[in-house]
Amino acid sequence: MRKSPVIKTSLPGPNARKLINQDKIYVSPSYTRYYPLVVEKAKGLWVHDVDGNVFLDFTAGIAVCATGHCHPEVIRAVKKQSGLLLHMSGTDFYYRPQIVLAKKLAHLAPGKGNKKVYFGNSGAEAVEAAFKLARWHTKRELNLAFYGAFHGRTMGALSLTASKAIQKKHYNPLVPGITHIPYAYCYRCPYNLCYPTCGLGCVRWVEDTLFRTTIPPEEVAAIFVEPIQGEGGYIVPPPEFHREMNNIAKKYGILYVTDEVQSGMGRTGKMFAIEHFGVDPDIIALAKGIASGMPLGALTARAEIMDWEAGSHASTFGGNPVSCMAALSTIELLEKELMENAAVQGKHLLDGLGELQQTHECMGDVRGKGLMVAVELVEDRETKAPARKLRSAIIRNAFQKGLLLLGCGENSIRFCPPLTVSSAEIDTCLSIFNDVIGKVAR
Ligand SMILES: Cc1ncc(COP(=O)(O)O)c(C=O)c1O
Repeated sequence: MRKSPVIKTSLPGPNARKLINQDKIYVSPSYTRYYPLVVEKAKGLWVHDVDGNVFLDFTAGIAVCATGHCHPEVIRAVKKQSGLLLHMSGTDFYYRPQIVLAKKLAHLAPGKGNKKVYFGNSGAEAVEAAFKLARWHTKRELNLAFYGAFHGRTMGALSLTASKAIQKKHYNPLVPGITHIPYAYCYRCPYNLCYPTCGLGCVRWVEDTLFRTTIPPEEVAAIFVEPIQGEGGYIVPPPEFHREMNNIAKKYGILYVTDEVQSGMGRTGKMFAIEHFGVDPDIIALAKGIASGMPLGALTARAEIMDWEAGSHASTFGGNPVSCMAALSTIELLEKELMENAAVQGKHLLDGLGELQQTHECMGDVRGKGLMVAVELVEDRETKAPARKLRSAIIRNAFQKGLLLLGCGENSIRFCPPLTVSSAEIDTCLSIFNDVIGKVAR
């Protein structure tokens, strides 16, 4: 069992530098690379670059490799299926893997009654499908989504997104009829209130102000919400937030659509993050961790909601048989032990970061559920001024020390390792993070 990263060249190393130069010539400049990591291969939490350096991965390829890189069971399932059938298009023909996976997801989705499943290839496609299904089913035109939300980059999903202005620059006009409202970001309450004395003012505002003055609720198709905001900063709302918001939705016949693209598939210690909040959503969007790195997006909805006609929505590649078999193998591993491991190791990580917070003033907030954990960095704890440069410096320095991290929100660092992470790997991460933050914050 590997214990620590091995960095034997300057970073980027010579082979990485050559490839990055080629990338600069041929690959779209729209991608956002934090640091120059060029990956050759990976196993578990350990990522090897093209110069033989070995890194500890607390990004899981942006919360995707739920079962660790190249889990042998997932590889076995992929190899077996790819020898049988690579593609046939599940929108025009039938094949077993898509049907079996749909049945499994339909049974896993919280709430009573039959569910049905639509398949796409990515998170954006799952959200896009949810957006269209909500319109189709309700015949209503308006939608609510949240500031800080990230739902993807296709035009519909992007219209629901309110994460970074650069993601929308030059793309207007987007899909009309979407109103963004403040999320329950209690560390920086948008209403300057304090939980719990606020009485969830952010939820009450929707009914008391928005629906009274601006938006006729009977014209709203859906509320799109991340159970825990991901790209927005790994923001965990108070326990009653979703229940109260969902109660408002139910009162006006509005669908409650949870985007579990980042938070779902066991990452928070439950299969779906919304299960922590006691709400049965009408529609759930899934992707990322669902197939351990094979491209797949899925949408679950109660059968009576998924009432669209043949031809109303489809995708050539959606529900690819190899991806479906990778998903079935992933779910088996999650149910067997990895969801439980996410809960146990997530607590270990959160406790460890909480301890570090006592010695590092710049760690303003430490939060999360399961293995969806973040540290929000501040200039000082009184003013909570966001420490954006410090955040970037810590991530880059951690890379130099062999620890892979990613940012989220304006000034937070996320920790979203594969759900196979061990206590020892978390201790290694904490030790490197402690050294780096000590050095950089000084
Ligand atoms: C919550 C959420 N929804 C949707 C998406 C879009 O997923 P994709 O990049 O697979 O289109 C993301 C990606 O980060 C996400 O975090």
